[in-house]
Amino acid sequence: MSATMFDRYGGFGSVHRVVLSFYDKLLDSDVVGPYFDDIDMPALVDHQTKFISQVMGGPVTYTNKVLDQVHRNLDIDQEAFDEMADILERTLQEFDFRADDVRTIMADIKSRQPYIVTNK
Ligand code: HEM
Repeated sequence: MSATMFDRYGGFGSVHRVVLSFYDKLLDSDVVGPYFDDIDMPALVDHQTKFISQVMGGPVTYTNKVLDQVHRNLDIDQEAFDEMADILERTLQEFDFRADDVRTIMADIKSRQPYIVTNK
């Protein structure tokens, strides 16, 4: 059996570093930064670490139903979603993720769009 991406990149510790860098960039963005003004960032980084780990084949914590519940009242539009996806893609590239792995992760993230974007 081949190792999952989660194992190949070094598990939660490595994903955590990627997510921290991802959030630094999100907060600097004029498009998505304001959504996070009143949010408990350490908790969110922790959640996102679990989520990205799950996408990489690690333990599963988040269903689409949960993503829908969490984002339903945040009024997220397509521009914000696209900006966040672009920033994640850049971060994975900076951390030297393989091109095919970046594609796999981004395809998963983009498939969640209907559960995140509510301001259409
Ligand atoms: C596919 C893309 C996305 C995924 C997979 C995702 C995933 C998550 C997860 C796992 C949480 C934590 C849930 C929990 O508390 O247990 C969360 C919370 C949050 N997300 Fe997202 N997210 C995405 C896109 C976005 C976008 C585009 C925005 C805003 C521009 C956003 C804003 C937020 C905010 C503000 C919270 C915190 C909500 C709170 O604590 O009240 N998310 N997200």
